[in-house]
Amino acid sequence: MSDKLHTTLKVQRGAAGEEPRFDSFDVPFEEGASVLDALVWVRANLDASLAFRYSCFNANACKECMVRVDGKTEYACTARLQTGTVTVEPLAKKRLIRDLVTDIVPPKERLSGLEET
Ligand code: FES
Repeated sequence: MSDKLHTTLKVQRGAAGEEPRFDSFDVPFEEGASVLDALVWVRANLDASLAFRYSCFNANACKECMVRVDGKTEYACTARLQTGTVTVEPLAKKRLIRDLVTDIVPPKERLSGLEET
């Protein structure tokens, strides 16, 4: 990476039932950029397999981008990116699907018969 400011994004990877691991990605830092901006940049430029969820992109309307940023539950689209190392993990109390994607559908809104045991 060049002399420009950058952030090391340390992201938890893996699917449910797998041993979680962390991958680190160097991303360019821009003032005002969000953690979601950085995750999108990683997926577009470094690793297309990185799984995370969002719908409204910086409008803070869909509530689907919730993750843990440096141990704190945040909306990735409103959490401001910092220089240095930023650790991004899936929500701790939700069922992990893969990488940063967790099952956030309220139980009463699930279609019956499709729930995993
Ligand atoms: S992307 Fe919709 S609230 Fe964050």
